[in-house]
This record gives sequence, structure tokens and C-alpha cells, in this order.
Amino acid sequence: AIETGVAKITEMDWDAYREKLKERLGLSKEIIRVMIHKAQQKPKKVVYPEGEEENIIRAAHAVLNDGIAQPILLGNEKIIKQEVERIGYDLNEFTIIDPENCDKCEDYAKAFFERRKRKGATLYDSRNLIRKPNYYGSMMVAQGDADAMISGYSTSYPNTIRPALQCIGVREGLSVVSGMYIVIAKKETYFFADCTVNVNPTKEQLAEIAISTADAVKEFNVEPKLALLSFSNFGSAPYPESVKVQEAVKLIKQKRPDLLVDGEMQADTAVVPEIIEKIFPFAEIKGGANVLIFPNLDAANIAYKLMARIGQATVIGPILLGMAKPVHVLQRGASVDDIINMTAIAVVDAESKNIRRR
Ligand code: ACO
Repeated sequence: AIETGVAKITEMDWDAYREKLKERLGLSKEIIRVMIHKAQQKPKKVVYPEGEEENIIRAAHAVLNDGIAQPILLGNEKIIKQEVERIGYDLNEFTIIDPENCDKCEDYAKAFFERRKRKGATLYDSRNLIRKPNYYGSMMVAQGDADAMISGYSTSYPNTIRPALQCIGVREGLSVVSGMYIVIAKKETYFFADCTVNVNPTKEQLAEIAISTADAVKEFNVEPKLALLSFSNFGSAPYPESVKVQEAVKLIKQKRPDLLVDGEMQADTAVVPEIIEKIFPFAEIKGGANVLIFPNLDAANIAYKLMARIGQATVIGPILLGMAKPVHVLQRGASVDDIINMTAIAVVDAESKNIRRR
């Protein structure tokens, strides 16, 4: 038995805990299995700017052999080849591009300059910038030479998505990108947003984040039920912060009457069905929400991290929503499995963006 300071955990409790963990991992695998299966129907070209990293090379080998994607590794060719040989893979499996020394650098630099010449870019600066792997990878996707980019294994979140925002930008008709996490808790699976990008979204941005999240959730074959969260329940505490959330709900209902959404509401109102049934029977979502939209980045980022660390939820993400073309960001030091899963999500994203364009 172990003394935790709060309670004694006996050997039997540990067994029960391990069983519960297995169940939850089973659930997370199921969600990912849907994406892997979809990706295998239409594999795509995926570029990895951190191609010199061992975990990226191992994931690239796996996605190629599992028919999920055709990987492209960016980085120093000599270093990547040495690493591939050290791991023991066949060099012929890998498409390697060195952004420091490649055929397309000048084309990409000119395209980048064209895109950003009225935003302070010069051709000279563009030539230098494009040699940085996150810029080169983003331009590959922008120019259609790759279908998706996966990055962030060794760079900070802002430094990973800024090049993508500059080279690719948001999807037509949208104004914000946002980050969603799948949170697999003890009993249920939830989708949290925006956990990673917009520090203090306006009511219009919040509505857009909610709609993008709902559409992304449908890709996982899950019917979204959205709750827009606040410290206030349906007008109980009318401060500017909660009124913003209330107004975002109105905007969503106007724009997308097909969506099941309500708010503003407190987090327990959203996830405990009896609270809605007994106290707020007029609410449009019944049986508990599965998509939780947070009022700002503080709340969302803190919530998902607490769920992972204290709530022992399995969290998958961040899944970047709203980009014109797919770019997805890894957690620093992501495992090979995480990179494979994110690649499958990016491939499915690329296909659904293709369908939307057709
Ligand atoms: N949605 C859409 N486009 C955006 C957004 C957004 N949320 N933010 C910036 N842009 C656009 C800008 O309008 C600009 O476009 P333009 O230059 O073509 O006109 C382009 O992106 C680049 O803008 P910058 O000004 O260079 O970038 P900025 O300094 O605004 O940074 C960033 C954007 C990196 C997303 C910033 O908002 C940020 O750092 N957010 C917080 C990220 C963070 O730290 N998250 C928490 C940790 S992540 C984790 O826990 C996994």
C-alpha cells in the first residue's frame, strides 16, 4: 500500500486503476482507429519540417508502411540519411528535401514575397526565411507540393503556427484558427476548444471557434452537442465576460440552426445532465454536452491540462482548426504514436478540405 497523503491506495485499488486506464486507452484507440481507417482510404503527402528527429523518422516509416501517408522529411540530407541507417530502415523509403539547398527555394521565396510584399516582406528576407524548415514546409503546403504539414516536435507552439499563418492563412470565409483537444475522461469523451490559439476571442470569434469545432467533431463520427462555458448560467451573472458568451450562442444559432448548442452555462451544468433537467429544462441540449467551448485561452488551456494531470484523462491534440490547408502541431517531444495519430488526422483533414473545395 502507498501513503499518498490524501488516501491510502491499496494493491487492489491499483489493479482497478490499471483496468480503468486500459478501458480508457481502448476508447482513445477507437477514436483514432476511425481516423486511421479514413486516412488509409486516401493517403496524402505529408511534410515533416523536423525530419532529422528520430521519432519523426520512425513515424514516417510507420505511416508509409501502414498506407496512411507519403512522408516528406525536411532537414540536412546527410544527417537524415545517417539517422535512417542507424535506425536500420531502408533509405529508399524516404523522400528527403534540404531547405538550405533545394530546387524550389527560389520559387517558394518569390511566392512568399508575393503573398507578403505589402506586409513588410522583401525578396531578400523571403529568400532567407524560406530556408527555415517551418516556412519551407508551410510553403510546400501552400503551393500544393504537399497536402499537409506536421510540426512542433522541437519548436514552441507560436513559432510553429506563425509561419503557417503567414504562408497559408485561414480558410476562406473564416477569420480565426483555433486548437481543439479530444479529452477522454473516465466515463465520457469530450472535445475542448480553443485551448491553444486565441487569447481573448470576441463574441464573433467565439462563435466561429464553436462552429469549426462542431464540424471537426463530426469527422470523428460523433454528433456534437455544444455548451459555451462561463461562470454564469443563462444570465445568472451578467458581466461583460458572460454576456459575450451569451451573444456568441445567439450568433451560432443564427448562422448554424442545424447545431445543438446552448449557453452561457457553467461547466457542471454542461456535463451533469440532471442539472439541466432539474434546473434549466428549457435548455436546448439534453443528456450532457460533449463539446465544451471555453470563453478564453486561460480557461481552456488550464482546463485541458488539469483534466490530463489531475483528472487523469487521456488527451489527444491539439488539432488545429480553420486553416486554409492542413497544418497540425505536435506537443514538444511527442511520441511516435502521437505523430502517427496526428498524421492520420491531417490526412483526413486534407481530404475533407479537398471535398469542400470541389
Ligand atoms: N487566427 C487567424 N489568423 C491569425 C490569428 C488567429 N488566431 N492570429 C494571428 N493571425 C494572423 C495575423 O492576422 C497575421 O496575418 P497577416 O500577417 O497575413 O495579416 C498572421 O496570422 C501572422 O500574424 P503575426 O502577427 O505574425 O502573429 P502573432 O504574433 O499574432 O501570433 C499566434 C499568432 C502565434 C497564434 C499568437 O496569437 C499566439 O502566440 N497565441 C497563443 C499561443 C500560445 O502560446 N498557446 C498556448 C500554449 S499551446 C499548448 O498548450 C499546446
